[in-house]
Amino acid sequence: MGIIETKNFGIRYGERVVLSDVNIDVPAGRFFALLGENGAGKTTFIKSIIGQNQQTTGELLVNTTLIGFVPQFRDISRDYPLSISEFVSLSYNSGWRFWLSNQEKKRISESLTRMDLADIADKRLGLASGGQQQRAYVAQALVKSPELLILDESTASLDHEHKVALLQNVTALQKAHNLTILFITHELKLVSQFADGYLLFKNGTVSQGEAEDLNVLTLEMTHRHDEDEVRNV
Ligand SMILES: Nc1ncnc2c1ncn2[C@@H]1O[C@H](COP(=O)(O)OP(=O)(O)OP(=O)(O)O)[C@@H](O)[C@H]1O
Ligand SMILES: [Mg+2]
Repeated sequence: MGIIETKNFGIRYGERVVLSDVNIDVPAGRFFALLGENGAGKTTFIKSIIGQNQQTTGELLVNTTLIGFVPQFRDISRDYPLSISEFVSLSYNSGWRFWLSNQEKKRISESLTRMDLADIADKRLGLASGGQQQRAYVAQALVKSPELLILDESTASLDHEHKVALLQNVTALQKAHNLTILFITHELKLVSQFADGYLLFKNGTVSQGEAEDLNVLTLEMTHRHDEDEVRNV
């Protein structure tokens, strides 16, 4: 049984159909790149996975409730009062208990270290750089050991070193804990070194493919890009 399965699944906003005839089956423990142009429906699709879209047709099965999700945009004001480590600990805020167990503290510290935030754990999140904030969001998503991790362009504002580190980190978790990763990105070249499958959002639907095809796709897309650049000169 796949961790995400759809049958003739579709999503619309009012009259506007964003996706239709989506038939995919993502097995657990895989790292899937979610690719496609701006407006192709990637964010809309993952919103359905976390239960935020109402106007859907067909079937969408999500076979886990342990989901870590890092949204594409999050505005944190400069005045945001929590430190990075307090922000990461929010995952454990269950509404009635105000203290953290030793086990939870350990998980928080592991997550901070994993995302290279240990040295700035006491910095106020609102005063951290865009890339540091991005890493704090991922740390927060990881802290409860999700079975499904959804990252919506989480490498976009990172420097190259931290991009690679993030991808290496989540790949290590994938291997060690059978974590499933859905990674939305426009950085095909980078992600094709790590992903072992893909979902391509195109022409109002989604096609699924394996790592081998991803290499072909990367070549095609980067080639087309090069041609565009030549034409633009
Ligand atoms: N809440 C909404 N109401 C109406 N239309 C929406 C809404 N959210 C998204 N859309 C439309 O749905 C389409 C898909 O948007 P979506 O954000 O899923 O694209 P995306 O693939 O994530 O693009 P990007 O790469 O730019 O993030 C777009 O045409 C967008 O304008
Ligand atoms: Mg998007």
